[in-house]
Formats: sequence, structure tokens, C-alpha cells
Amino acid sequence: MLEIKNLNYAVIENGAKKNILNDINLTFKDNKIYVITGHNGSGKSTLLKIIMGIAQKTDGQILFNGQDISNISINERAELGISYAFQQPVTFKGLKVKDLLDIATSEKHNLSAMCDILSKVGLCAKDYIDRALDDKLSGGELKRIELAVTLARKGKLNMFDEPEAGIDLWSFENLTALFENLKGATNIIVSHQKRILEIADEIILMSDGKVVLQGNREKVLPKLSINACGRLREVNNG
Ligand SMILES: Nc1ncnc2c1ncn2[C@@H]1O[C@H](COP(=O)(O)OP(=O)(O)OP(=O)(O)O)[C@@H](O)[C@H]1O
Ligand SMILES: [Mg+2]
Repeated sequence: MLEIKNLNYAVIENGAKKNILNDINLTFKDNKIYVITGHNGSGKSTLLKIIMGIAQKTDGQILFNGQDISNISINERAELGISYAFQQPVTFKGLKVKDLLDIATSEKHNLSAMCDILSKVGLCAKDYIDRALDDKLSGGELKRIELAVTLARKGKLNMFDEPEAGIDLWSFENLTALFENLKGATNIIVSHQKRILEIADEIILMSDGKVVLQGNREKVLPKLSINACGRLREVNNG
């Protein structure tokens, strides 16, 4: 279980304090899928980065299974089973796909094991394991590889930042099926897509660095306005 208590994050920009997250209080229980949604710039990625330790909170507390993890390193959080798949996957010069799989999972994989992992995201291992993790991979390929690596880590807390970004519509059904099979852990997905919101146990809506609505899917989904392309458009406060 993950608990966020009175979390604030501010930066200094042009000499002035800018509040990015304001008094966030959230509880994420095990074996559930939480989807965080909200307009661009509302603070979703920042929240995940603070949970992972990539950005440092200004104040507040983050408890993971009762342990205060607010001040421990990214590596220590990873060792506790916390994973984060970036909105924009990072590239690693000089590293191949197979190296990343082995390093991220602390296991040595043979071709058949790599095939099992990569086929989950629709990639054929033979075509990819020797590819360099650089910008010659397409955006969608990088996103799939990062997803596969995060899934292979079998974390206790998995965070996915807009996993659908760059993934073609043909693969969308498989993607949602992957998340539905993740129930053994706590899963937080940031998404704007209705089809991802529809697999949530609970939905959290953020706006201007605050949580403005949260609750089970049946309660929250009807209050969100989704446009014809299945993306969140505006909040219907009525
Ligand atoms: N280090 C920083 N310095 C200044 N502003 C920042 C910093 N980090 C984040 N921000 C700002 O904080 C706001 C929240 O950013 P964040 O990336 O969390 O948004 P988001 O909800 O993930 O948006 P999107 O849907 O576009 O991915 C944005 O306005 C962003 O420009
Ligand atoms: Mg974001």
C-alpha cells in the first residue's frame, strides 16, 4: 500500500516560488488499478516522479507498506519493488535492448525468455534484442520496450506514465489486456484515454496541482467529459 500525505512540490522559477503540487493526500491499495487523469500540466508526471524519487518533494510524506520512503534514493526505492515507466522513455547510448532487460530485472535471459517478455508488447525478440537503445528506435518501439521491461521487473508498485502514447490503435486492445492482468501489485497509470480509464478500479482527477476528484470508476467516469477520440476534454462539474 502506498500513502501520500500532505505532499507539496514547489520550484523557484525566475526568482519566484511556483507551486506545482499542492497538498496531495492519496492512498493506493494493493491489487488495484488506479488511473490518474487531468489536463496537460496538472502535475501527474511530477507526482509519479516524486514517488519514484526522480524529483524531490518540498514537504509531506510518502509511505510504502508503512515505510517512509520520502528521503531514500531511486535505487533503494527500486529495490523495494517500485517501478516507473517514463512518459518519454529514456535512451541509453551503448546499451542494447537485451542488456536493459537483464540489468532492470537482475536476471540473465535467454532468447526464449526475452521472446516471452517482448511478445507481450507485440515485439519479436529476434528483431530487437541486439538493437541499441538509441533514437534510431521509433517512439512507439521505445515505449513498448520500456513497458516490457517494467512488466518484467514484476514490481510491487508499478507506475506507467501515458503508456498508450505512441502505441498504434491496432495494439491498444492488447495493452489494456496487459494492465488487466497486473492485479497482483499496486498499479498507477497516468492516462487520457477512455479505454484505459475503463479498466481502472479507481480514478483520480488532477487539476492545477491538486486532486479535485477521486473514487471508484463508476462514480468518477460519468463526471468526466470525453471527446470523440476517447480523450479527456473537460470536467463536467454538474
Ligand atoms: N522543474 C520544474 N520547473 C518548472 N516547472 C516545472 C518543473 N517540473 C514541472 N513543472 C511544471 O509543472 C506543471 C506540471 O507538470 P507535469 O509534467 O507534472 O504535468 P502533467 O500533468 O504530467 O502534464 P501532461 O499531461 O502534459 O503530461 C507543468 O506546468 C510543468 O511545466
Ligand atoms: Mg505528464
